[in-house]
Amino acid sequence: MSQINQVLQEGQQAISQAETLEALDEVKNKYLSKKGIVSSLMGQLKDLDNEQKKDFGQQVNQIKQALLQAYNEQLRLLEEKALAVRLQQEKINIELPGVSFKKHQLHPLTIVQQEIEDLFTSLGYEVMEGPEVELDYYNFERANIPANHPARDMQDTFYINETTLLRTHTTAIQTRALEANAHKETLKVICPGKVYRKDDDDATHSHQFVQIEGLVVGKGVSMANLKHTLLTLAQAMFGQDRKIRLRPSYFQFTEPSVEVDVSCHVCNGDGCSMCKQTGWIEILGAGMVHPDVLSMAGFDPEKVSGFAFGCGVERIAMLKYHMDDIRHFYQNDLKFLKQFTNFEGGK
Ligand code: DAH
Repeated sequence: MSQINQVLQEGQQAISQAETLEALDEVKNKYLSKKGIVSSLMGQLKDLDNEQKKDFGQQVNQIKQALLQAYNEQLRLLEEKALAVRLQQEKINIELPGVSFKKHQLHPLTIVQQEIEDLFTSLGYEVMEGPEVELDYYNFERANIPANHPARDMQDTFYINETTLLRTHTTAIQTRALEANAHKETLKVICPGKVYRKDDDDATHSHQFVQIEGLVVGKGVSMANLKHTLLTLAQAMFGQDRKIRLRPSYFQFTEPSVEVDVSCHVCNGDGCSMCKQTGWIEILGAGMVHPDVLSMAGFDPEKVSGFAFGCGVERIAMLKYHMDDIRHFYQNDLKFLKQFTNFEGGK
C-alpha cells in the first residue's frame, strides 16, 4: 500500500512540476501509458491472493483516476498559459496607421450603361445581350435591310465572311429578342452591347463603341408610350428639367422613325457651345417597330405593336461629363479614368 501511495505522491508532484506540454506528456507516458508505472503495479496483482487482489486492484484504480485528473488539470492550465502567451505575442495594435488600398473604379462607360440599365430594370424591363460576332441575318436581314440594299452602306461593316460580321448596331439584339419572344404577348427589353463600324477614329468616331437598344412590344403600344419613355430616359440622364423633341427621320426597321433631341443641360435651352447655339442636343434614334420586322420574327403585327430606340453610350457619357473626344474612353489613361469616382453600382 505504501508503494501505491508513493507512486501517487510522486506522480502528482511530477505532473504539477511539468512546465511545458511536452514535459507533461513525458510524465503521462511514465505513469499512465501501457508500459507505465501504474500498469506495472497492476502487473503485481497476479502475485497476490484473492482477498488482497481486490483491495490492491481498487487502490491502483483510484490512484490511476487521481493521476488522470491531475494530468487533465495541469493540461488545462498549461494550455491556458500557452494561449495567453500567444495572445500577447500576436497582439494587434489597432492604433497603427492603416495601409490604404487603391479602390477600384468603374469605367465611365460602365457607369452610364449601368445607370440606364438600372432605370429600365426599375421599370420592369429585362436586360438581354447578344453575340458581337453576329450573323448578317440578325444584324441586317431581320432589321428589314435586305442584301444589296443601299441602307447597308450607311453602316460600314467589318465582315468576317459572307454571312458573319461584327454587329454594327444593337438592333441585332432587338431582332433576336423579338424572335425569342414571338410566342409571348408582351416584351420589354433593354439590350446593351459593343458594336463595330469601319470608321476612322477621330474625336467623335470610334470603330468600336457601345449602344443600348430599348424594345417594347405588346397590345396597343403607341408612339405616346415611346415619347414618355424617352422623356423618362432623358430626364434620368440629364436632369428632371429636361424636355425632349422628336424630329421625323428614317430607319429601315421602324415606321414611323424619329430622331430625338434633348433640351441642352448646360444652357437650359438658351443656346451655348455644347448645343451649338440651338438649345437642343440630338441623343438617339427611335420609332415604332416596322410591321415587317415584327412579322419576320413571328409576331402578328395586326395584334401587337412595338416601339424601339437605340442610343450611343459614349455620346450620352460625353454630354454628361462635358467631354470633347471619344478616344479618351479607350486610351486607358489613369488621369482621365480617376475623375469618375463612382463606386460599385455606378450611382
Ligand atoms: N440602329 C440604329 C443605329 O445604329 C439606332 C436605332 C434607331 C435603333 C432607331 C433603334 C431605332 O431601335 O428604333 O444607328
